[in-house]
Amino acid sequence: MDRIRIVGGNALNGIIPISGAKNAALPLMIASLLTSDTLTLENVPHLADVEGLIRILGNHGVDIAVNGRREHQDGSYSRTVHFTCRTVADTTAPYELVSKMRASFWVIGPLLAREGQARVSLPGGCAIGTRPVDLFIEGLTALGAEMEIDGGYINAKAPKGGLIGARYTFPKVSVGATHVMLMAASLARGTTVIGNAAREPEVVDLANCLNAMGAKISGAGTSTITIEGVTSLSGARHRVLPDRIETGTYAMAVAMTGGDVTLSGTDISLLDTAIEAIRRAGAEVSAVDGGIRVIGHGDAIRPVDIVTEPFPGFPTDLQAQFMGLMTRANGISHVTETIFENRFMHVQELARLGAKITLSGQTARIEGVTRLRGAPVMATDLRASVSLVIGGLAAEGETMVSRVYHLDRGFERLEEKLTRCGAIVERISD
Ligand code: EPZ
Repeated sequence: MDRIRIVGGNALNGIIPISGAKNAALPLMIASLLTSDTLTLENVPHLADVEGLIRILGNHGVDIAVNGRREHQDGSYSRTVHFTCRTVADTTAPYELVSKMRASFWVIGPLLAREGQARVSLPGGCAIGTRPVDLFIEGLTALGAEMEIDGGYINAKAPKGGLIGARYTFPKVSVGATHVMLMAASLARGTTVIGNAAREPEVVDLANCLNAMGAKISGAGTSTITIEGVTSLSGARHRVLPDRIETGTYAMAVAMTGGDVTLSGTDISLLDTAIEAIRRAGAEVSAVDGGIRVIGHGDAIRPVDIVTEPFPGFPTDLQAQFMGLMTRANGISHVTETIFENRFMHVQELARLGAKITLSGQTARIEGVTRLRGAPVMATDLRASVSLVIGGLAAEGETMVSRVYHLDRGFERLEEKLTRCGAIVERISD
């Protein structure tokens, strides 16, 4: 199993190219199930989760052609992938595949809309909370589907003639359930109005792609989304939006180590709340042509309290990284997690680097320390593991991060991107 070895203490200087967003690419890829034409996605990141979903889509009958990567001057790659689902080969998504990645559960929306039925295993995914599927069941039921749980699977059946547009308001904001409703309602008869929809940029990206395929969706990015159903969707070409979580992660890394880095191919407006928090912590962040410039001052980190919330609030997917940054602040900060009840697995690992963190319910109290010291640590989930990398970059001596397959799910060429900016980071394959 691979490990990552970090020797901390170096400032980061240079350019880090930001990849396409994993959490946009996954629903966009799933949208290819809605049409018999080819959906071409540009800027698809090369990540374990994307490769996993490629296998899952193949099982449903999607032909996939990957165009080789092309290197640009700033070190970035672009990867274009063509998805063609002439006919759906299988409307069952089996446990062996869905249990590895929660997002693969989302195939339930397009399968139900296009084929009138789906049998999808209840999902797995990161161990960050219970993550139920009640909102998917309620939402699809509102569109007329019959939903039944049987033997660990959801059996979903559309009414004769297909799903029917409806008004449905989510009792709680869910990114995944919003994605699924957008896809399902696009092929429903009549108009669907979704209330309390997720406003994440990835939802907007999916809506834009579906509209390019012929859907009629308005209001994405606000809490109320209206979808006028159409009888069929066609192919399209769409560019996956930049990864705001990767952007925020590297911005926090620079704030932590000090240095001057341009994050290229990204957009500051995707993460206003996180940028505000990083600025309050003392780093200088500005929009530059084609990206963001971050100047960090290392030792002069100020304590900042944050609370995770659905977009446009502070993202839960940056909570662990921000806590990593706060471990070296000049004072006490608080990090409150409101989205997932169990997303604090990084706390005990950061403590191995010398961080002083105490947990009380959903809030962590972080007492900044002047130095972290390298140690062996273990990655526990995707974002938790990158917080350990950030900690390791600022720690004195060597940090060895094991179980890096978590990192590979969501960070493309992490060690290469950091090394190009002067960090000492290497992958050790045993
Ligand atoms: C998406 O997960 C992301 N995943 C997550 O990123 C992210 O943390 C999360 O949104 C919140 O921003 C992808 O986009 C692939 P939710 P999702 O449904 O859609 C509860 C990462 O590290 N809920 O918005 O699964 C749920 O338990 C990952 O990249 C229900 O109660 O998240 C949670 O408390 C991890 N019932 C809250 O809603 C449901 O039926 C928000 O979850 C569905 C969700």
